[in-house]
Amino acid sequence: MKRLLLTMAVFTVACSMAWAAEDGAALYKTKCAACHGAAGEGKIGPSLQKTALTQAQVADLLTKGAEGKKAPHGKAVSGLTADQATAIATYVATLKK
Ligand code: HEC
Repeated sequence: MKRLLLTMAVFTVACSMAWAAEDGAALYKTKCAACHGAAGEGKIGPSLQKTALTQAQVADLLTKGAEGKKAPHGKAVSGLTADQATAIATYVATLKK
């Protein structure tokens, strides 16, 4: 019985974590697609399908910005939390061709 309760507890926590996870695809659509294209094919901004950056580097770019980059990446993309940046970077990695 104890074991069953423990299993249920773990399951409940795991499910609530899944709910809390940021939706990278939705965030990408609202925050990035206008410049990088719906499928990351590139528009005003370069193609993300062909970026040489790793997932971690993309997340870093979004949360910290990179010196010498044009807007909006000279600084952190405004309003993004670290969790959101990670979710977007994970999604961007799936766009790669
Ligand atoms: C206002 C337009 C605009 C928006 C919005 C925007 N970007 Fe960009 N992005 C650019 C431009 C322009 C560059 C090239 C900047 C440079 O090299 O100086 C760029 C560069 C990048 C790069 C580097 C690509 C490489 O190969 O070096 C990544 C990764 C990137 N953007 C991801 C994102 C993500 C993810 C979002 C959404 C959170 C986003 N961008 C939102 C315009 C935008």
